[in-house]
Amino acid sequence: MLSCDEIRALLSKRLSKERYAHSLRVAATARELAERHGVQAEAAERAGLWHDAYKELPVPEQIARAREKGILTPEYEAHPHLLHGPLAAACLPEDFGETDAEVLQAVRLHTTGDAGMSRLDMVVYLADLLEPEHDFPGAARLRAAARVSLEGAMLAALEHTLQYLLQRGAWIDPKALRARNALLPFRIKE
Ligand SMILES: [Fe+2]
Ligand SMILES: [Fe+2]
Repeated sequence: MLSCDEIRALLSKRLSKERYAHSLRVAATARELAERHGVQAEAAERAGLWHDAYKELPVPEQIARAREKGILTPEYEAHPHLLHGPLAAACLPEDFGETDAEVLQAVRLHTTGDAGMSRLDMVVYLADLLEPEHDFPGAARLRAAARVSLEGAMLAALEHTLQYLLQRGAWIDPKALRARNALLPFRIKE
């Protein structure tokens, strides 16, 4: 398997400057969160590096590749921005030799979450949302939550995203709702 340095070298050629810089920040944030919460830091860094590796492929190519891998659904065809995580998880073993099943799952779930998320999955989802250059209303509250509890922060992050999607009248992936429902016992009392 590639080392983190080799993954960085590969991504620096594959991604735009902006997306590459975002991926480095997500990987660093994921490593930090993992260390704080006793999650495997190397896996968190790898997943953070890989998470958007297929995001800049043209959508028709993403769809063709997903069809080939047997993971294309009508929902992904209608909402292709949700495809790059599952597509990366399906393609990374063959394309780049990434075979760590836990890393692949964290990459697969980084956009939507799902019921039964591992703590590594939560670290990567939260790092994508909370990397230092990503500013939005409520970010400080979510960053504080992420220092206290992964599960509690994950619940708050999902509810933040769901509210944003509802306000915009957007389609909601049932995986995100399942993730949120599964985490209801972990609400942080303020
Ligand atoms: Fe992404
Ligand atoms: Fe991202």
